Amino acid sequence: AKVHYHKWDISYKFKSPDCYKKLAVTINGQTPGPTINAQQGDTIVVRVKNSLLTENVAIHWHGIRQIGTPWFDGTEGVTQCPIVAGDTFVYRFVVDRAGTYLYHAHYGMQRSAGLYGLIRVAVPDGVVEPFAYDYDRSIILNDWWHNSAYEQATGLASIPFVWVGEPQSLLINGRGKFNCSLAGPTAVCNATNPECSPYVLTVVPGKTYRLRIASITSLSALNFEIEGHNMTVVEADGHYVKPFVIKNLNIYSGETYSVLFTADRDPSRNYWLAVNVISRKPETPTGTAVLNYYPNHPRKSPPTSPPVGPLWNDTAYRFNQSYAIRSHPDHVHPPPLTSDRMIILLNTQNRVDGYTRWSLNNVSFNMPHTPYLIALKENLRHVFDQRPAPETYDYRNYDIYSVPKNHNATTGTSIYRLDFNSTVDVILQNANMIDPNKSETHPWHLHGHDFWVLGYGPGKFDPEVQPKEYNLVDPIMKNTVSLHSYGWTAIRFRADNPGAWAFHCHIESHFFMGMGIVFEEGVDRVGELPTSIMGCGDSKSLRRP
Ligand code: C2O
Ligand code: CU
Repeated sequence: AKVHYHKWDISYKFKSPDCYKKLAVTINGQTPGPTINAQQGDTIVVRVKNSLLTENVAIHWHGIRQIGTPWFDGTEGVTQCPIVAGDTFVYRFVVDRAGTYLYHAHYGMQRSAGLYGLIRVAVPDGVVEPFAYDYDRSIILNDWWHNSAYEQATGLASIPFVWVGEPQSLLINGRGKFNCSLAGPTAVCNATNPECSPYVLTVVPGKTYRLRIASITSLSALNFEIEGHNMTVVEADGHYVKPFVIKNLNIYSGETYSVLFTADRDPSRNYWLAVNVISRKPETPTGTAVLNYYPNHPRKSPPTSPPVGPLWNDTAYRFNQSYAIRSHPDHVHPPPLTSDRMIILLNTQNRVDGYTRWSLNNVSFNMPHTPYLIALKENLRHVFDQRPAPETYDYRNYDIYSVPKNHNATTGTSIYRLDFNSTVDVILQNANMIDPNKSETHPWHLHGHDFWVLGYGPGKFDPEVQPKEYNLVDPIMKNTVSLHSYGWTAIRFRADNPGAWAFHCHIESHFFMGMGIVFEEGVDRVGELPTSIMGCGDSKSLRRP
């Protein structure tokens, strides 16, 4: 196995990814950042220099389980102190499984400022994947706002509440197109800036492509389509999928997929790659890139208009695609047939002391900022509330279709302590928001593990009923899963990775407003913590030189 060394300098730069100039957080001057390429079993070493001058940073390796290195998960407040301005921090971890993963900032709302990229891990030499293709390409999708992450965060934490609103643009590989005639008089928007020329994917007629598609959106659920071409889904979050064919792909923030498609259409023209917002009423134009059939000119515009995707509010359509994702028959990891514990999490929006928050079982998460991993390992008991977080809600009486009446909603720092090696089920239960007749989609991401997706369904989960319908035969394993509007999602995982791990909605503003929890397991088995993760809050005195 190889060791890959990367040197990253994190700094603000003026960027115009959608032609509109704004400040972005960059890695070595780039957003998206460089793709990390490695092979299963390799070690990745990233020396991060924080050159943001007045801002801290932390980087999370999304989908990498950090087995044996929980302190390099990069989650500010959970596994490490932030890397303060001017400091250098070295991440070192093994990519133990082939597949497609992400990295991104995990501090405040910083991710939405542009710090993100892809991790591609190849299978070991001699291992054959259960599908074949000629070329391997990647696409990373994002949504983009023109105001700053600070303005957004301040609005969310204000009375009256100021929502971030819909994104101005959708980006494909860091490129989008804002209509500059809509930009205000003080804005710099230049439609001919090469930074916002559309991404071009050139294909050779007759060849088959593996396209790795990842979404790192801050808010939007997306639908991705290759005009005129079907796609066969073959990988999800690093696991092989029982192949199924789709016309377009629903993808939620934090998810990755590989699809195969063949360039077998009329080769005399180019086609659109298109992304559209789903599950929220779209106010953002379709994001586009060009599928260029060689030898046509890459700038030759397709003669058609870009695909508009499925109806944004067709929830059944999204449920159906979720149901279709099963493990590849030759790569099934059978789940344990029973679990030791069931945690039910009611997802609601509440007001707490006049602030708009998201809550789980009426508790909205407040990060204590002395990292949990350090507090747990070094026994700093006063750092967080030692009482257990609530295991369930009053599911018999709660009406998920009406506006929450949870007047007793609070904020909290409690966590869920899991028995090491136990099997845990988590049921995510969606419900109505503060606004009537609205229930959003939440993509839930678990750090440090993959989980089995045992089922999804509309309506209210009943622990006496739905477990009988779980898929215990060929469930897919994932690290991010969607919770659909007014529905439930059931997952199962083994608490076999010693550490402290975040589990949260991957919508940046939802997590910021409390939509997350922390699991602890086997912390007594965690090796000696590197002092480089320490130094903040009550871990100050622990940072020996
Ligand atoms: Cu990709 Cu905790 O997130
Ligand atoms: Cu959410």
